[in-house]
Amino acid sequence: MDIKKLNQIYEGKAKKVYATDSPDYYIVEYKDDATAFNGLKHGTITGKGIINNKMSNLMFQLLAKNGVKTHFVEQINDRETIVKAVKIVPLEIIIRNVAAGSFSKRYGVEEGRELLAPTLEFSLKDDALNDPLINDSHIIALGVATENELEQIRTLAYKVNEVLKNFFAGLGVKLIDFKIEAGRLPNGEIILADEISPDTCRFWDAKTNEKLDKDRFRRDMGGVEEAYQEIFSRINNA
Ligand code: TMP
Repeated sequence: MDIKKLNQIYEGKAKKVYATDSPDYYIVEYKDDATAFNGLKHGTITGKGIINNKMSNLMFQLLAKNGVKTHFVEQINDRETIVKAVKIVPLEIIIRNVAAGSFSKRYGVEEGRELLAPTLEFSLKDDALNDPLINDSHIIALGVATENELEQIRTLAYKVNEVLKNFFAGLGVKLIDFKIEAGRLPNGEIILADEISPDTCRFWDAKTNEKLDKDRFRRDMGGVEEAYQEIFSRINNA
Protein backbone atom coordinates (compact mmCIF):
# COMPACT_ATOMS: atom_id res chain seq x y z
CA MET A 1 0.00 0.00 0.00
CA ASP A 2 1.40 3.38 -1.00
CA ILE A 3 1.04 5.47 2.14
CA LYS A 4 3.32 8.29 3.24
CA LYS A 5 4.12 8.82 6.92
CA LEU A 6 3.45 12.39 8.07
CA ASN A 7 3.61 14.05 11.51
CA GLN A 8 3.43 12.23 14.83
CA ILE A 9 -0.01 12.71 16.35
CA TYR A 10 0.35 10.70 19.57
CA GLU A 11 3.01 9.11 21.72
CA GLY A 12 1.99 6.48 24.25
CA LYS A 13 4.14 4.48 26.63
CA ALA A 14 4.88 1.74 24.11
CA LYS A 15 3.92 3.15 20.70
CA LYS A 16 3.90 6.26 18.54
CA VAL A 17 1.11 7.04 16.09
CA TYR A 18 1.64 9.02 12.90
CA ALA A 19 -0.78 10.68 10.50
CA THR A 20 -0.44 9.68 6.86
CA ASP A 21 -1.29 11.27 3.53
CA SER A 22 -4.65 9.46 3.75
CA PRO A 23 -7.21 10.46 6.39
CA ASP A 24 -8.28 6.80 6.57
CA TYR A 25 -4.95 5.43 7.82
CA TYR A 26 -2.41 5.90 10.59
CA ILE A 27 1.01 4.35 11.00
CA VAL A 28 1.90 2.91 14.42
CA GLU A 29 5.50 2.47 15.53
CA TYR A 30 6.28 0.05 18.36
CA LYS A 31 9.00 1.10 20.83
CA ASP A 32 11.19 -0.95 23.17
CA ASP A 33 10.18 1.29 26.10
CA ALA A 34 8.43 -0.45 28.95
CA THR A 35 6.58 1.11 31.86
CA ALA A 36 4.56 -0.30 34.72
CA PHE A 37 2.39 1.04 37.53
CA ASN A 38 1.16 3.94 35.39
CA GLY A 39 4.63 4.98 34.39
CA LEU A 40 6.25 4.83 37.86
CA LYS A 41 8.63 2.13 36.64
CA HIS A 42 10.56 2.68 33.42
CA GLY A 43 12.79 0.41 31.42
CA THR A 44 13.71 -1.00 28.07
CA ILE A 45 12.94 -4.47 26.82
CA THR A 46 15.34 -4.93 23.94
CA GLY A 47 13.59 -6.06 20.77
CA LYS A 48 10.12 -5.83 22.36
CA GLY A 49 8.84 -3.36 19.75
CA ILE A 50 9.65 -5.77 16.94
CA ILE A 51 8.04 -8.74 18.67
CA ASN A 52 4.94 -6.79 19.72
CA ASN A 53 4.47 -5.38 16.22
CA LYS A 54 4.78 -8.75 14.49
CA MET A 55 2.86 -10.67 17.13
CA SER A 56 -0.02 -8.17 17.25
CA ASN A 57 -0.31 -8.33 13.48
CA LEU A 58 -0.43 -12.13 13.53
CA MET A 59 -3.10 -12.03 16.26
CA PHE A 60 -5.15 -9.46 14.33
CA GLN A 61 -4.99 -11.66 11.22
CA LEU A 62 -6.02 -14.73 13.22
CA LEU A 63 -8.94 -12.78 14.70
CA ALA A 64 -9.97 -11.41 11.29
CA LYS A 65 -10.13 -15.00 9.99
CA ASN A 66 -12.51 -15.69 12.85
CA GLY A 67 -14.80 -12.79 12.03
CA VAL A 68 -13.39 -10.07 14.32
CA LYS A 69 -12.93 -6.68 12.65
CA THR A 70 -9.60 -5.07 13.53
CA HIS A 71 -7.62 -1.95 12.68
CA PHE A 72 -4.80 -3.97 11.07
CA VAL A 73 -4.05 -3.11 7.43
CA GLU A 74 -0.44 -3.90 6.53
CA GLN A 75 2.93 -4.32 8.23
CA ILE A 76 5.51 -1.96 6.70
CA ASN A 77 8.67 -3.08 8.50
CA ASP A 78 9.84 -4.62 11.79
CA ARG A 79 8.40 -1.84 13.94
CA GLU A 80 5.78 -0.08 11.81
CA THR A 81 2.30 -1.01 10.65
CA ILE A 82 -0.45 0.74 8.71
CA VAL A 83 -3.73 0.69 10.64
CA LYS A 84 -7.19 2.08 10.03
CA ALA A 85 -7.62 5.54 11.53
CA VAL A 86 -9.99 5.16 14.48
CA LYS A 87 -10.90 7.22 17.53
CA ILE A 88 -9.96 5.09 20.51
CA VAL A 89 -12.76 4.56 23.05
CA PRO A 90 -10.94 5.56 26.27
CA LEU A 91 -11.46 2.23 28.04
CA GLU A 92 -9.15 -0.61 28.97
CA ILE A 93 -11.27 -3.66 28.22
CA ILE A 94 -10.06 -6.53 30.38
CA ILE A 95 -11.04 -10.19 30.19
CA ARG A 96 -9.86 -12.68 32.78
CA ASN A 97 -9.95 -16.49 32.66
CA VAL A 98 -7.76 -17.08 35.70
CA ALA A 99 -7.28 -14.85 38.76
CA ALA A 100 -4.07 -12.79 38.71
CA GLY A 101 -2.74 -9.27 39.16
CA SER A 102 -5.11 -6.55 40.33
CA PHE A 103 -8.08 -8.97 40.43
CA SER A 104 -6.29 -11.25 42.90
CA LYS A 105 -5.29 -8.28 45.02
CA ARG A 106 -8.72 -6.62 44.99
CA TYR A 107 -10.71 -9.74 45.85
CA GLY A 108 -8.15 -11.62 47.94
CA VAL A 109 -8.03 -14.55 45.55
CA GLU A 110 -4.82 -16.54 45.00
CA GLU A 111 -3.19 -16.07 41.61
CA GLY A 112 -3.84 -19.04 39.37
CA ARG A 113 -7.37 -19.82 40.56
CA GLU A 114 -9.51 -20.79 37.55
CA LEU A 115 -12.53 -18.51 37.32
CA LEU A 116 -15.90 -20.22 36.89
CA ALA A 117 -16.62 -17.98 33.90
CA PRO A 118 -14.55 -15.40 32.04
CA THR A 119 -14.94 -11.94 33.57
CA LEU A 120 -15.14 -8.61 31.76
CA GLU A 121 -14.18 -5.34 33.40
CA PHE A 122 -13.41 -1.82 32.27
CA SER A 123 -10.96 0.82 33.38
CA LEU A 124 -11.20 4.42 32.25
CA LYS A 125 -8.07 5.27 30.25
CA ASP A 126 -6.94 8.34 32.16
CA ASP A 127 -3.36 8.46 33.41
CA ALA A 128 -4.04 11.44 35.71
CA LEU A 129 -6.69 9.37 37.52
CA ASN A 130 -4.61 6.16 37.42
CA ASP A 131 -7.01 4.34 35.07
CA PRO A 132 -9.83 3.78 37.61
CA LEU A 133 -12.24 0.85 37.32
CA ILE A 134 -15.50 2.00 35.76
CA ASN A 135 -18.84 0.22 35.44
CA ASP A 136 -21.28 0.06 32.56
CA SER A 137 -23.68 2.66 33.91
CA HIS A 138 -20.84 5.09 34.62
CA ILE A 139 -19.57 4.62 31.07
CA ILE A 140 -22.98 5.50 29.66
CA ALA A 141 -23.69 8.33 32.14
CA LEU A 142 -20.34 9.97 31.33
CA GLY A 143 -20.79 9.52 27.57
CA VAL A 144 -17.60 7.43 27.29
CA ALA A 145 -19.56 4.99 25.09
CA THR A 146 -23.22 4.43 24.26
CA GLU A 147 -25.18 1.33 25.31
CA ASN A 148 -25.06 0.17 21.71
CA GLU A 149 -21.27 0.61 21.58
CA LEU A 150 -20.88 -1.17 24.92
CA GLU A 151 -22.82 -4.12 23.57
CA GLN A 152 -20.50 -4.25 20.54
CA ILE A 153 -17.48 -4.05 22.88
CA ARG A 154 -18.73 -6.90 25.11
CA THR A 155 -19.35 -9.14 22.09
CA LEU A 156 -15.93 -8.24 20.66
CA ALA A 157 -14.12 -8.92 23.94
CA TYR A 158 -15.64 -12.35 24.55
CA LYS A 159 -15.05 -13.37 20.93
CA VAL A 160 -11.39 -12.30 21.14
CA ASN A 161 -11.09 -14.38 24.30
CA GLU A 162 -12.53 -17.52 22.72
CA VAL A 163 -10.26 -17.28 19.66
CA LEU A 164 -7.07 -16.45 21.59
CA LYS A 165 -7.68 -18.91 24.43
CA ASN A 166 -8.02 -21.79 21.97
CA PHE A 167 -5.08 -20.64 19.87
CA PHE A 168 -2.73 -20.37 22.85
CA ALA A 169 -3.94 -23.65 24.36
CA GLY A 170 -2.64 -25.25 21.16
CA LEU A 171 0.78 -23.73 21.90
CA GLY A 172 0.87 -25.06 25.46
CA VAL A 173 0.10 -21.62 26.86
CA LYS A 174 -2.68 -20.55 29.24
CA LEU A 175 -4.25 -17.19 28.43
CA ILE A 176 -4.73 -15.89 31.98
CA ASP A 177 -6.09 -12.44 31.12
CA PHE A 178 -5.66 -9.62 28.62
CA LYS A 179 -6.45 -6.00 27.87
CA ILE A 180 -7.75 -4.76 24.54
CA GLU A 181 -8.86 -1.40 23.22
CA ALA A 182 -11.64 -0.58 20.78
CA GLY A 183 -11.80 2.17 18.19
CA ARG A 184 -14.59 3.95 16.34
CA LEU A 185 -14.49 4.11 12.55
CA PRO A 186 -15.90 7.28 10.92
CA ASN A 187 -19.15 5.33 10.26
CA GLY A 188 -19.48 4.69 14.00
CA GLU A 189 -18.60 1.00 13.83
CA ILE A 190 -16.53 -0.40 16.72
CA ILE A 191 -13.43 -2.40 15.78
CA LEU A 192 -10.50 -3.93 17.67
CA ALA A 193 -7.48 -1.58 17.88
CA ASP A 194 -4.24 -1.10 19.87
CA GLU A 195 -2.12 -4.26 20.30
CA ILE A 196 -2.17 -7.87 21.50
CA SER A 197 1.22 -8.77 22.93
CA PRO A 198 3.01 -9.92 26.09
CA ASP A 199 2.65 -6.28 27.23
CA THR A 200 -1.12 -6.59 27.24
CA CYS A 201 -1.78 -10.26 28.02
CA ARG A 202 -0.75 -12.68 30.75
CA PHE A 203 0.59 -15.94 29.32
CA TRP A 204 1.59 -18.89 31.53
CA ASP A 205 3.23 -22.06 30.30
CA ALA A 206 0.50 -24.70 30.59
CA LYS A 207 2.79 -27.29 32.20
CA THR A 208 5.00 -25.24 34.51
CA ASN A 209 2.96 -22.03 35.00
CA GLU A 210 6.12 -20.10 34.08
CA LYS A 211 5.23 -16.50 33.25
CA LEU A 212 5.84 -15.60 29.60
CA ASP A 213 4.77 -11.95 29.66
CA LYS A 214 5.38 -8.46 31.01
CA ASP A 215 4.83 -9.55 34.62
CA ARG A 216 8.53 -10.59 34.48
CA PHE A 217 9.34 -6.88 34.01
CA ARG A 218 6.67 -5.57 36.41
CA ARG A 219 7.89 -7.94 39.16
CA ASP A 220 11.66 -7.82 38.44
CA MET A 221 11.78 -11.54 37.75
CA GLY A 222 14.49 -11.44 35.06
CA GLY A 223 14.32 -13.32 31.78
CA VAL A 224 12.09 -10.65 30.28
CA GLU A 225 13.46 -10.64 26.72
CA GLU A 226 13.61 -14.45 26.76
CA ALA A 227 9.92 -14.67 27.73
CA TYR A 228 8.88 -12.42 24.82
CA GLN A 229 11.08 -14.50 22.49
CA GLU A 230 9.59 -17.74 23.78
CA ILE A 231 5.98 -16.71 23.15
CA PHE A 232 6.88 -15.31 19.74
CA SER A 233 8.74 -18.44 18.67
CA ARG A 234 5.86 -20.69 19.76
CA ILE A 235 3.50 -18.59 17.61
CA ASN A 236 5.85 -18.72 14.65
CA ASN A 237 6.26 -22.47 14.93
CA ALA A 238 2.50 -23.01 15.16
P1 TMP B 1 -4.21 -6.20 35.99
O1 TMP B 1 -4.37 -7.53 36.66
O2 TMP B 1 -2.99 -5.45 36.42
O3 TMP B 1 -5.46 -5.36 36.11
O4 TMP B 1 -4.00 -6.48 34.43
C1 TMP B 1 -4.95 -7.19 33.69
C2 TMP B 1 -4.43 -7.39 32.26
O5 TMP B 1 -4.36 -6.15 31.57
C3 TMP B 1 -3.05 -7.99 32.17
O6 TMP B 1 -3.03 -8.94 31.10
C4 TMP B 1 -2.14 -6.85 31.83
C5 TMP B 1 -3.04 -5.91 31.09
N1 TMP B 1 -2.75 -4.49 31.36
C6 TMP B 1 -2.43 -3.66 30.31
O7 TMP B 1 -2.36 -4.08 29.16
N2 TMP B 1 -2.21 -2.33 30.58
C7 TMP B 1 -2.29 -1.82 31.84
O8 TMP B 1 -2.07 -0.63 32.01
C8 TMP B 1 -2.63 -2.70 32.91
C9 TMP B 1 -2.74 -2.18 34.31
C10 TMP B 1 -2.86 -4.02 32.63
